[in-house]
Order: sequence, then structure tokens, then C-alpha cells
Amino acid sequence: MGKKRGLNVLFAASEALPFAKTGGLGDVAGGLPRALAEAGCSVAVLLPLYGCIDKNKLQKTGTTITVMISGRPYIGTLYKKEIFPGVTHWFLHQPELYFSRPNIYGDQNGDYPDNDARFIFFNRALAEFPTAAGFHPAVVHVNDWHLGLVPLYLKLLPEGHPLRGVPTVFSIHNLAYQGAFPRESYPLTGLPEKYFSAEGVESWGKIGFMKTGILFADAVTAVSPTYAKEILGKELGFGLEKTLNQRKKSLSGILNGIDADDWNPATDKHLPAAYSAKKMAGKAKCRDALLKKYGLQDVPGRAVIGIVSRMVEQKGFDLITAAEKDLMKLNIALVVLGTGQPKYEDGLRALAKKYPGRVGLTIGYDEALAHLIEAGSDMFLMPSHFEPCGLNQMFSLRYGTVPVVRATGGLADTVVNWQPEKKKGNGFLFKSATSQALLAVVKKAVKTFANKKEWDRIVQNGMAEDHSWRKSADKYLALYHTLV
Ligand code: ADP
Ligand code: GLC
Repeated sequence: MGKKRGLNVLFAASEALPFAKTGGLGDVAGGLPRALAEAGCSVAVLLPLYGCIDKNKLQKTGTTITVMISGRPYIGTLYKKEIFPGVTHWFLHQPELYFSRPNIYGDQNGDYPDNDARFIFFNRALAEFPTAAGFHPAVVHVNDWHLGLVPLYLKLLPEGHPLRGVPTVFSIHNLAYQGAFPRESYPLTGLPEKYFSAEGVESWGKIGFMKTGILFADAVTAVSPTYAKEILGKELGFGLEKTLNQRKKSLSGILNGIDADDWNPATDKHLPAAYSAKKMAGKAKCRDALLKKYGLQDVPGRAVIGIVSRMVEQKGFDLITAAEKDLMKLNIALVVLGTGQPKYEDGLRALAKKYPGRVGLTIGYDEALAHLIEAGSDMFLMPSHFEPCGLNQMFSLRYGTVPVVRATGGLADTVVNWQPEKKKGNGFLFKSATSQALLAVVKKAVKTFANKKEWDRIVQNGMAEDHSWRKSADKYLALYHTLV
């Protein structure tokens, strides 16, 4: 197959590195546009200008976008910045609709109550972006519920509009968050009344952003092949399985990549020592630094297990809690970084108190520490109930930290069980979502850890893999070409 031509791509998300991130979506919206540019595309990334983004470091364009909402004009101003050749980041500034608040989605009181108004404005503004910015895309690629209304808006554009007929790709990152809002907000969408129906935006009686994206996009992607299949079933379809099955022919799974520059143990600026597959000595120094940071004892044969995660149901903290007594009977130390639901934070605080010298805990969000935990741990635990893709297992593989994961979504697509007889595999998987199964797999991993020769082989197998964005970006580009 010949090399695919680059295209003009308008890419929009609610978060993107290096400007705003709460989770994996921010990583993806940071890395994929860059990889698309490296593959020859010209990419405009559109983001809301949140208060956490420093306006003074951006270029004010003076260009505005006006959206009429309930008969009143709302004006957004565009800022921009080019940090990578081929990618221009555009920021929509609209303080009146509260993009200027410091956080992206909410605060200590929960989600902002007007997230519907905020993101309806953002979705509607996107349609006017090409004219305002003078950027004419061949494809519009939007992500997760926050941009879910865009495919429908584009379908309804009048003859002669620059985006009319431009195909849309809608990527699902997590079906557990659907952007479902009260019907009362429907007038804000400016959509004709008849679209509030089962064939339109209505989802279980509410305005469904995610549902609309799935229904009206020209192509729908999920962030891993396994997740693309799982969401067709009741358990992981979260009520949208019918809509997804309706679009089955246009649904595919493309695995995320990782930013191979940010996540490279040979150049990682957050680490006390560098290392690579050929020169592993630095990893032991990172491990020492991690143990020292938390005052953890180093006992011969002890396996350091790292976790960096949002502390929510999805990530399987209930399984860890249920298994903790038995887990702590093994020769392990646990290092956990994350924030989330108070019950999990409190549970882990109690565990750290009960096992001083064996459990290191940081409740919070800390980019540098996430890197140290990836580098300094022997294993990385992700017992997720579901995981659309997951990035930490891929960071772990690159850092020679053996992933121990539940076989679901992207975890099942990236982690291969260690088979000693064949010397193949890069980690350890368990299937059933029970504390017993979790305990059994950790036991197996800890036992294997005692065999240095075998362990080194698993580490090397993982480090030899390439999870950079290149292959995935090529798949998106091939998909774009089927649509244009
Ligand atoms: P999700 O998006 O569901 O949270 P992913 O595995 O796709 O899961 O991505 C999570 C991203 O957020 C990773 O880059 C991970 O390192 C990062 N992350 C999660 N929690 C924290 C934290 N407390 N501190 C620093 N980084 C974190
Ligand atoms: C979501 C998913 C995670 C995925 C990320 C990026 O937050 O929970 O599994 O890696 O999106 O696609």
C-alpha cells in the first residue's frame, strides 16, 4: 500500500497535554495530533480556554466566534499557539460561560452544574471555527461526550457552509461518562424540537451527548479493539449498546499510543537516574529513591508494586480492598498515587497506617511522582473492572515494570501472559473480577519475581515493544482516507 497523503484535520477535545489534563484523554489529545502531523497532516486542535491555561503564553488572534443561544449572542475569542510543527492549538475564550474557572469539569462540590451550557457552546462554536481561523479541514475528529453534538450539527449545516459534507470521526474514550443532561437545557442546543427523539439526541429521557456522537458520526472509534467489542454488550454498553449495535459497521477499535518522548526512561527528566533495556542499572537507583521517599524497607526478594490511578469504581480498588489482608501476607511493598472517591482514599490511608514501611501513599495528582513510581516499581497493578484502553500499562512496559492487570479492554490488547516454557509474554493477566483471582495473579507474579532470570526476560520482552503513536496514527489516517 502506498503512503497515505496527509490531510487537514480539525481535532477537538475537552483536554489535551501540555495544556490541560485530568486523565488519559489529555494524553491522547496531546499525542495523537502530533503523530498525525508527523505522518504529514496539518492539525488544528481546538480546546476551551480554561482558567488553568495561562493566556499570557498564547497568541491573541482577535478573531471571534459568535453563537446565538436562546436569541442572545455569545462571543468567544480565539487564542492560538504552535508548539509542534504541523499542529496549531486553538483556544476558545469565553469567560461569560465560565471556561475561565480553574478546573476543567468541576470542583470539590462535583461537576459544574452548567456543564451542559459550557459544552453546548463549545460544540456549536466548532462549526464556525474554520471560517474564523481560516483552517479548512478534510476531516473533523472529535472526542468523548464533550464534543458529541458536533456530528449532528455538521449534518444540519446549510448548503454552502464550509463544513458541510466534511466527514466526522467520533472517538469513545469512556462510555461510563455520557454527558447526559436534563431535557430543560434542550433549547440551548438550538436544535429543532424533532431531534429530541430516540432517532436523535434523546438518551433515556435526557440530552445525550455521547449517544448523539455515536449516532451521527461518519465513523465511530473506541480506544482499543477489545473495548470496541465489549461495548456492544449489555455489561459495558452502559445503556448505549443498542445505539452502538446500530452503528456496528462504522465502529472500529484503534489502540492508543503513548508519548514516547515524555515516557522514555533514558531521557526522563523526573528520574534520579536514566536507564534503558541495555543499561538497567539506573532502574535500581529509581527503585531505591522510591523506597527512600516513602521510608519503605527493602527486604530481599520483596516486590515493589506501583499504582497510579484515578480512585474510582472502574479501576478495581474494591478488589484491592477485599484482598488487602492476604496481599499483605506476600513479600510485597505497595506504592499508590491517586485521587478520587473518599471511600477509596480513606481505605488506602488506613492501609498505609496499618503497614508502615510497606505501603507508600500519596493522595493527589503529581506528574513527576507518576514517573518515579513507573520507574521505581517492579510491577504495576491495574485490576480494572473495565479499561477502554489504559495508558499506564504501556508506560510500565517501556519502563521495565511488569504489568499485572485484569484482562479487559486495552489491557487485554497490550498485556500478554508470561509463558515460561516459551519465554514469551510481558506481564500477568487475570480474568474474573474477584479478589481471589486478583490475589492469585499477584501471588504468581511475586513467585516469578523470585526467579531473576525469568523476571529479566519478562522485563526485556516488554521493553522491546513499541507502543508509540506511530502505528495508531497511521490507522486513524487510513480511516480518515476511507471517509474523504
Ligand atoms: P483514565 O483516563 O481512565 O484515568 P488512563 O490509563 O488512560 O486512565 O490514563 C490516566 C493518565 O493519568 C495516565 O497518564 C496516568 O499516569 C495519569 N494519572 C492518573 N492519576 C494520576 C495522579 N494521581 N497523578 C499523576 N498522574 C496521574
Ligand atoms: C479513558 C479511559 C482510559 C483510556 C483513556 C484515553 O479515560 O478510562 O482507559 O486510556 O480514556 O483514551
